[in-house]
Amino acid sequence: MNENDPFPWLYKELSLSLSQVATCLYHSLIVSLSLSFSLIVVLSLLMDVQEHNDFINAGKEETAIGKRQSDYIAVSLSVCLSLTLSVCVCLVAFQYLSLDGNSLNTADLVRLGKGLFNIKLTYEAEGKVNEAREVIETIIKENRVVYGVNTGFGKFAHTLIPKDKLMELQANLIRSHSAGVGPPLSVERTRMLLALRINVLAKGYSGVSMETIQAMVKAFNASCLSWVPEKGTVGASGDLAPLAHLTLGLMGEGRMWSPQRGWDHAKTVGLTTIKDKCFIVQGIGLINGTQMMSSLAAEAVERAVGVARQADIIAALSLEALRGTTKAFHSDVHAVRPHPGQIEVALRLRSLLHSDIFPSQISDSHRTCDRVQDAYTLRCIPQVHGVANDTIAFVKSILSTELNSATDNPLVFAERGETISGGNFHGEYPAKALDYLAIGVHELASMSERRTERLVNPSLSELPAFLVQDGGLNSGFMIAHCTAAALVSESKTLCHPSSVDSLSTSAATEDHVSMGGWAARKALRVVEHVEQVLAIELLAACQALEFLRPLKSTTPLEKVHELVRTVVRPWDHDRQMSPDIEAAHTLLREEKVWEVARPYMDQYRDRLGLKPLPLDD
Ligand SMILES: *[C@@H]1O[C@H](CO)[C@@H](O)[C@H](O)[C@H]1NC(C)=O
Ligand SMILES: *[C@@H]1O[C@H](CO)[C@@H](O)[C@H](O)[C@H]1NC(C)=O
Ligand SMILES: *[C@@H]1O[C@H](CO)[C@@H](O)[C@H](O)[C@H]1NC(C)=O
Repeated sequence: MNENDPFPWLYKELSLSLSQVATCLYHSLIVSLSLSFSLIVVLSLLMDVQEHNDFINAGKEETAIGKRQSDYIAVSLSVCLSLTLSVCVCLVAFQYLSLDGNSLNTADLVRLGKGLFNIKLTYEAEGKVNEAREVIETIIKENRVVYGVNTGFGKFAHTLIPKDKLMELQANLIRSHSAGVGPPLSVERTRMLLALRINVLAKGYSGVSMETIQAMVKAFNASCLSWVPEKGTVGASGDLAPLAHLTLGLMGEGRMWSPQRGWDHAKTVGLTTIKDKCFIVQGIGLINGTQMMSSLAAEAVERAVGVARQADIIAALSLEALRGTTKAFHSDVHAVRPHPGQIEVALRLRSLLHSDIFPSQISDSHRTCDRVQDAYTLRCIPQVHGVANDTIAFVKSILSTELNSATDNPLVFAERGETISGGNFHGEYPAKALDYLAIGVHELASMSERRTERLVNPSLSELPAFLVQDGGLNSGFMIAHCTAAALVSESKTLCHPSSVDSLSTSAATEDHVSMGGWAARKALRVVEHVEQVLAIELLAACQALEFLRPLKSTTPLEKVHELVRTVVRPWDHDRQMSPDIEAAHTLLREEKVWEVARPYMDQYRDRLGLKPLPLDD
């Protein structure tokens, strides 16, 4: 979405482009005109009946005036009503995203996964797809030999396949490559996978026919989704097995999911929308690419963005609860080591804790104490959270290129009328980025767990042990901290990079692979652990504040505390802990903590003459 668009709020909420809004208004007008017309008829009929009754009871003149008035009311009422109604209906009906293979970003891909939009290809994209398709059709007509089009695959690249066997060749390819194992990707993730594959095909370098792409779009629009087992890709001829499963369902084989039927045989689910024949002769164009690791990466990086900036707020809350000092966040300190993430995080901390703009009774109460420096998990938040921020930004930049890249093989260059066999399917880029992402964001959890330990440990916090009264009878946050420790430990294993591994496949033709599928799956798990560990810290920090009452913290941090208290009660005696953790986790997933603090952080930035924080990424 373009930042210069005139009604950014409209696009942000509904993701519409200007032309979509125009189309929408046009349709609304037509619909509302006809609606008002029928409403006018109905209303005047109703009022005629009313009038008839009045006529029996009262004089003739009065009702004549009454009739004119009620006519006006009827007309204006129906016009207003139908206009509002049809605008609403159209806004909902026109929620689609245009794909052209060049402009998809991670946030929109996640929205597509949630099923918020349908997909439409742009006019230009359709043109490019058709041109590339013509090249392939000419090749087949002229009997030229092209890898994957009329040869075997991988090691069988030198086996020429006769024309009358080409359909079978491509169907065999999809069937034999559907060799994945394990549980299927969730509905949301399969939707992302399908959307991303459509985006890449829309770029017009695959040689797949427009019919095929339209059938995929149709399946997407109808939420008819194939069964895609999550394991079984080495990530170097792209994600062969997952993409083959994606295609298999669209061919009417294997299993598929639809909103009406749930999981069922693909023939039952899919064939109301798709004809199987149109997929054949282009199997290879559908399965050679990095879309599984990249679509999972999009989810991982978007969730990482959300949790990273909320981690700064939660850390500030812990710092207050532990009565730490804000000296280490002074801008002079960071100006002499100006990594962008470090500068940004320090600024965020100042904007939450600055004593001039947001006085805190808690920090006033210990201003005269002799503490000069805190432990590292408090003092070094800008440095450690900062590099997490910059890692996320780096990964996002790799992904924004990858999501809009032609990663097939062979690539069809319509303008030169030829195909070239290359290596764009190799997943090393997303695989490495995903390994960095896991390593980068894991540190947020690692720091968080240590701060939770400081909060629950009475010798470090000078608060009741495990943050509960009547310790012994109550255990308070004892085991919640253990959970955080367990998650952090599990993530340490998961942070072992998978992209440093490689095993030779396809009889030594594909002799170096990326292992990006595993990199993606475990990066997602690490991000989820980070969210959960921070949810536990959030609860502990809020509980710690209860023991410092009646003293109050800064306005933004009190707002965060208030927010948490809308879903989780203070811990006055023991109860089941996991629903609380889940509730706090949901707050973080929905970025509520960020939303409630952001306006106050903006006030501080405003004072410094800085731009407000971005509304959304
Ligand atoms: C994808 O392309 C590579 C490179 O040519 C090839 O080795 C591999 O076999 C292709 N995948 C399939 C399924 O043929
Ligand atoms: C998908 O949905 C969009 C928007 O609702 C529509 O414009 C498009 O034609 C649909 N595509 C197919 C192939 O059904
Ligand atoms: C990281 O910091 C930069 C400022 O240098 C900021 O613009 C960006 O939004 C931050 N990234 C994330 C993911 O929060």
